[in-house]
Amino acid sequence: MTPQPPASAPARITVLTAAHAPAYKALRDEALRCAPEAFTSDYATALQRPAQAYAPRLSLPASEGFFLGAWDAHGALLGSLGCEREQRAQQRHMATVVAMMVAPRAQRRGIGRQLLQACLERAAQIAGLEQLVLTVTAGNEHVVRLYERAGFTPYGLLPRAIVVAGRGHDKLHMLRLLPSSPLWHAPHEDH
Ligand SMILES: CC(C)(COP(=O)(O)OP(=O)(O)OC[C@H]1O[C@@H](n2cnc3c(N)ncnc32)[C@H](O)[C@@H]1OP(=O)(O)O)[C@@H](O)C(=O)NCCC(=O)NCCS
Repeated sequence: MTPQPPASAPARITVLTAAHAPAYKALRDEALRCAPEAFTSDYATALQRPAQAYAPRLSLPASEGFFLGAWDAHGALLGSLGCEREQRAQQRHMATVVAMMVAPRAQRRGIGRQLLQACLERAAQIAGLEQLVLTVTAGNEHVVRLYERAGFTPYGLLPRAIVVAGRGHDKLHMLRLLPSSPLWHAPHEDH
């Protein structure tokens, strides 16, 4: 019998490419099916999209952002997260963290935390990028806490931002400054 890795074994994190589109689609479709209230996209629409529809998103030039994947020792995609830079000149200092997901079978092993940490490290290397934003379904308190622990702070709430099966869900808008931001204060500084 193959020994199972310890629950806290770190996953291997890499940048996803267009070649990973089929694995990405499978992961995303499952996430949308299992946690519809967590996403703005819906499962039924996503199911109809061919894997190749995700290729452009997985082919971003390094200056424009990235999608990260978390892999197990057998090469299965366990989780992913995207970071997409704004296109307009006056918003180029900003990127949006999107599509954070970990396969249900691999949740609560620290992979989400690992993906977020890798995202912050990589985002900090993009010249001119100063801050990250995201939205999260406010009722998913464990996900909000996960982002807070990674340094994201809430700056607004959009009531009834999505409606899933007739039920409205608020979205919390969160911001994380990067060290290059003029607004950045090192965590140990006392202001
Ligand atoms: C959110 C998500 C990506 C987290 O991934 P994960 O790999 O399970 O997260 P981690 O194992 O790194 O857990 C991070 C923390 O959240 C806690 N946590 C994770 N899932 C939890 C749950 N269902 N209930 C309570 N706490 C939970 C963990 O205990 C951990 O806390 P700790 O740092 O104190 O140990 C995953 O739950 C997921 O894919 N959810 C569905 C999609 C989703 O909500 N995406 C976010 C869109 S904004």
